[in-house]
Amino acid sequence: MHSHRIDAAMLGTGMIFDETYRPFFEQPDASRFVAGDSVVDVRLSAVATRSGSRAAAYARAAPPRASGFRSYCGPGGVAELLASPVDAVCVATPDDRHFPAALAALRAGKHVLIEKPAVLSLAERDTLLDAARRAGVLVKVVYHKLADPDHKKLRTHLADGTLRHVNSGYCSLLEPRSVSRDQFSEWVVGRNPATYVGVHYLKLIDFTFGPDWRLARVTATGQRGIVGPPDGPTFDSVLAQVVYAYPDGREAAFDLHTGWVTPDNSPGYVDQEVQFRFDNATWNAHQRKRGVEVTVEGRTPLAMKETPNHHYNGTFLEPWGQRSQRGYGIEVIRRFFEEVAHVEFGGPDAARPERLAATRALDYNDLAADRNVVAAVQAVEAILREQAEGRPGGVVFVDHPLGELVLFRPGDATPTILHPSASAIAAPS
Ligand SMILES: NC(=O)c1ccc[n+]([C@@H]2O[C@H](COP(=O)([O-])OP(=O)(O)OC[C@H]3O[C@@H](n4cnc5c(N)ncnc54)[C@H](O)[C@@H]3O)[C@@H](O)[C@H]2O)c1
Repeated sequence: MHSHRIDAAMLGTGMIFDETYRPFFEQPDASRFVAGDSVVDVRLSAVATRSGSRAAAYARAAPPRASGFRSYCGPGGVAELLASPVDAVCVATPDDRHFPAALAALRAGKHVLIEKPAVLSLAERDTLLDAARRAGVLVKVVYHKLADPDHKKLRTHLADGTLRHVNSGYCSLLEPRSVSRDQFSEWVVGRNPATYVGVHYLKLIDFTFGPDWRLARVTATGQRGIVGPPDGPTFDSVLAQVVYAYPDGREAAFDLHTGWVTPDNSPGYVDQEVQFRFDNATWNAHQRKRGVEVTVEGRTPLAMKETPNHHYNGTFLEPWGQRSQRGYGIEVIRRFFEEVAHVEFGGPDAARPERLAATRALDYNDLAADRNVVAAVQAVEAILREQAEGRPGGVVFVDHPLGELVLFRPGDATPTILHPSASAIAAPS
C-alpha cells in the first residue's frame, strides 16, 4: 500500500461548511480511505473567507486533525490561498460568488468542487469547463439529494422498469425566515429562493428522469414584500415551472415551489416534498416525515427539529460505542475526494487521462452534465429580473431557433437572447 495526502482548501466556511465539510474533514473514518493500492488522507490545509473571523473561531474549536489550516481573508485571500500548496478546492461562497473563485482555482490547476447552484449562467459554465479541460482537472458540483436513499430508490425503480415514463410532478422546498433574514442577510439582496435551493430539485428531475428528453421551456413568478420591498429585486418565494419534451412529442412539466419566509417555528425547519406522476404510477415523498416525530420540552421545534431527516446528516452514538456524524450530505463530499484520488493515484501515471475522462463522465456531479440545470437557473434569474423591473410573465425557450436560451415577454415582439446557440458562438464574426 502507498500513502498519499490530498491537501484540500475551503473557500467559505459558513453554514454548509459546518454541516457537511467540517464533519468530513474532522472524522478520519470519512476523510481517510483506500483508492486503488493507496491509502489516501484528505486534510483541510487552507481556508479563505471574507473576514477570517469564522475561520479563526473554527481553528480554535476544531480537533487536531482539522485545525492546522492556513487562513486567508480579504480581497486577495483567494489568490493567496491558490498560490499555496493545495490540490483540491471546495467553493462554498455565496451563490453569485462561485464563478470567479472557481475559475481562479481551475486556472491554478486545482480540482474544484462547487456548492449548488454551481454558476448562474451557461456562459460561466462554458468558461469553467474550458478552464478545467485546459488544466486537466475535475470540476464537480454538490448535489447531495441524489444520494438520498429515497431518491436513489426512485431512480432504481426507473432503471428496473417499475416506474414508466414520468409526465408531471411538483417539488416543494420551503425554508424558514431566519435563512433569508439572518443566515444570508449579507448577500440576500437581489437573490431568490428558487435558484438558491430549488436547484436541488431541478437536478433531481433532470438526472433521475433524463437524458432521453430535452429541456424545452422555463417560466417563473416570484412574490416580494417580506425579505425586501414589494417593488425590489429580492424575492420571498418563487413558483417556477420547467417543461421537458420527449422525442415522440409528449411533454413532462414540473412545478417548483420554493420560499425562505416560512415561520421559524415551522415543524422540521425545512419543509420538502415531491410528487411525480408516471404512465403507470405515482410517487409521493416527504423528506422530513419519514417516521420520526419528536417533542422535547423547551427544545423542539427550534433547538431540535420535530421531524428530523437523519438520512441527510445526523450525529449518532454508534452501537459499537463510537460517536459519529454521517449521512448523504457528507457522503457526497467524500465521493468527490475519492474521485480526485482515483484520478491522481488510482493507477499508473500514463493512464491518468483515461481515469480523468471516466471520472468526468459521472454525470451526477460533473459540471459538463449540469447544462439543463444551469440553463434553468439562468432562465429563472432572468425572468425574475424582468419581473422586478416591471415586466412579469416571461418565458424562456431552450434550444430555440434564435438561440440556446431565448426570453420572450408578453406583449413584446422582440425576444432577448440570453445565450446564443453554439453555432452562433462558433461562427466567425
Ligand atoms: N448543499 C446544500 O444543501 C447547501 C445548503 C446551504 C448552502 N449551500 C450553498 O453553499 C454556499 C454557501 O452557503 P452557506 O449557507 O454556507 O453561506 P454562508 O453565508 O453561511 O457562508 C458563506 C461563506 O462564504 C464566505 N465568503 C463570502 N464571500 C467570499 C469571497 N468573496 N471569498 C471567500 N469567501 C467568501 C463567507 O466569509 C462565509 O464563510 C452557497 O452557494 C449555498 O447555495 C448548499
